[in-house]
Amino acid sequence: MEKTPRILIAGAHGFVGARAMACWPEAVPVPSALLRGPGKELEAFIRAQMPDRILNAAAISDIGACEQDPEGSYLANVTLPVTLARAAQTVGAKLVSFSSDQVYTGCREEGPYSEGQALPVPANRYARQKLEAEQRVLDIHPRAVMLRATWMYDLPLYGQANRGNFLVNALEAVIRGRPVRVPGRQYRGITYVRQVTGLLEQAFSLPGGAYNYGSENPLTMEQTARALLDTLGLEGEVQDTGQTRHNLWMDCGLLKSHGICFDTTARGFARCREDYGLGE
Ligand SMILES: NC(=O)c1ccc[n+]([C@@H]2O[C@H](COP(=O)([O-])OP(=O)(O)OC[C@H]3O[C@@H](n4cnc5c(N)ncnc54)[C@H](OP(=O)(O)O)[C@@H]3O)[C@@H](O)[C@H]2O)c1
Repeated sequence: MEKTPRILIAGAHGFVGARAMACWPEAVPVPSALLRGPGKELEAFIRAQMPDRILNAAAISDIGACEQDPEGSYLANVTLPVTLARAAQTVGAKLVSFSSDQVYTGCREEGPYSEGQALPVPANRYARQKLEAEQRVLDIHPRAVMLRATWMYDLPLYGQANRGNFLVNALEAVIRGRPVRVPGRQYRGITYVRQVTGLLEQAFSLPGGAYNYGSENPLTMEQTARALLDTLGLEGEVQDTGQTRHNLWMDCGLLKSHGICFDTTARGFARCREDYGLGE
């Protein structure tokens, strides 16, 4: 009988990590203090645990917070994944680490972007850190898998710190009688996080490299917001913030060629509605 893989999760209490823990209840969370401490302690912990797999969902992912704290965010977004890559390579563990669609923020073409796209310097610090992490992790651990995730959403988990996301922001606007404000002409994927975590088992089987990982979305953000309201049966106004178009639109063909298929963003809304029993 094949042995159950031993899984470590870094960032186990975060938005993605908590949901990954729900998929693998036997996984071991990396203690939060080790994520923020000297890398040597983290490496020693990993050597002692001898995992088969490490999932890295730890980061400072707030773009503004990264601008305000360049050094702290560099430790979380670059130094930490590099340490995990070194430790994973030493113990022979497969590493899956989250990157972001923000790595495409320097692109001038319209999109959708695939992984072969030339990547000019990204437009914000968070994205530059994510891109550097991808490159350094893959140099150290070529079997590692870097997932360029889209913006993700879910309803909040009770008792946890919850940041706003597309679904929560839209619901809040409708409840308060305000318009749902979006950069109307922008294209980007928006993904139901439970599908993101549900497909991680397959992501561990991917060959090493960086992958676009999330829902494809041929709709503008204005159409996307309307699709969400329609799916949930909500009446609400959608307002274009008028920001200059800035696409983060990803082509997930490479991922599909490995048998990992996400719903489109619009279909993901329906899946979320069904999961929560919101019915027609
Ligand atoms: N959320 C999105 O829509 C989105 C979109 C694209 C990409 N991503 C990427 O997906 C991954 C997961 O994102 P998320 O939204 O789940 O993140 P999150 O909830 O903001 O944070 C994840 C975890 O990171 C750890 N962390 C926070 N500050 C840290 C620091 N200073 N040093 C080291 N670790 C720290 C914490 O781990 P503990 O819980 O153990 O303390 C936290 O729970 C990240 O790599 C993020 O960049 C997210």
